[in-house]
Amino acid sequence: MPGRVEGKVCLITGAAVGLGYADAKLLHEQGATVVLTDVDPEGEKSAKSIGERASFMHLDVTSETEWIETIDAVEEQHGRLDVLVNNAGLVKGADIEACTAELWRLHMSVMADGTFFGCKHAIPLMAASGGGSIINMASTASTVGIAGLPAYSAAKGAITSLTRSVAVHCLDKGYEIRCNSVHPTNTDTPMLRGAIGDEAIERGSLDDGTPLTRTSRPIDVANLILYLASDESLMATGAAFALDRGVTIMEGVSP
Ligand SMILES: NC(=O)c1ccc[n+]([C@@H]2O[C@H](COP(=O)([O-])OP(=O)(O)OC[C@H]3O[C@@H](n4cnc5c(N)ncnc54)[C@H](O)[C@@H]3O)[C@@H](O)[C@H]2O)c1
Repeated sequence: MPGRVEGKVCLITGAAVGLGYADAKLLHEQGATVVLTDVDPEGEKSAKSIGERASFMHLDVTSETEWIETIDAVEEQHGRLDVLVNNAGLVKGADIEACTAELWRLHMSVMADGTFFGCKHAIPLMAASGGGSIINMASTASTVGIAGLPAYSAAKGAITSLTRSVAVHCLDKGYEIRCNSVHPTNTDTPMLRGAIGDEAIERGSLDDGTPLTRTSRPIDVANLILYLASDESLMATGAAFALDRGVTIMEGVSP
């Protein structure tokens, strides 16, 4: 039986570890050719561990020049681009009074600029490939107020709004390119372990059979990325997909 993304060429940013790696692995399992990109050279090993239709390219998403070179290389090596997952990100906590201008710019540059460059430079190749799907990693932080994360939240808010604009642009142009944002809650990755510590994760990971009480896992997010990458999601564009165990709609629950 063919995979759900059989034959598609997918580019994933920040894919050396964490959610990007999980996305790349699942897309590959379902028949895609996956291009993992990252600033971390460990991405080379990550791609090798996935399989023969996986490769690695260095890409610092804050650099427009590197984006242009990467899209050119994808066109040269694969002749098309069907799916872009703008996943690269980082988080460093500091409330509004403690947040420095440098910290603010760092978050905006990796996540807002990185996603802007990705959409801008991937669209022509995706349009020439007959359309496709752009998936932008946002967060629950773009919909609820988190006091300790003003820069992260603002960058994710920018991604959410950019997503809607890109979606409408592609509809206006008749490109058949969908663009959606994904908003997970805390998910067990190196980012979250760095932010809240291993112990808090182990406590939250105790699976008592109630999905609403456990920490999200990379595969929970990758399953949504697979749906959005596949032709099953042809009707979805400009949407914000919450993947948060309901925490953003429940009173008194922390995201
Ligand atoms: N883990 C969570 O709880 C969670 C929740 C909501 C949203 N997210 C979002 O999901 C995405 C992935 O998060 P994760 O938890 O896997 O993080 P992670 O820290 O585990 O992995 C992020 C990857 O991005 C890469 N990266 C950082 N800066 C980069 C740059 N300038 N250019 C290219 N790559 C760069 C890192 O090297 C790393 O490999 C991020 O956008 C994050 O904000 C994560």
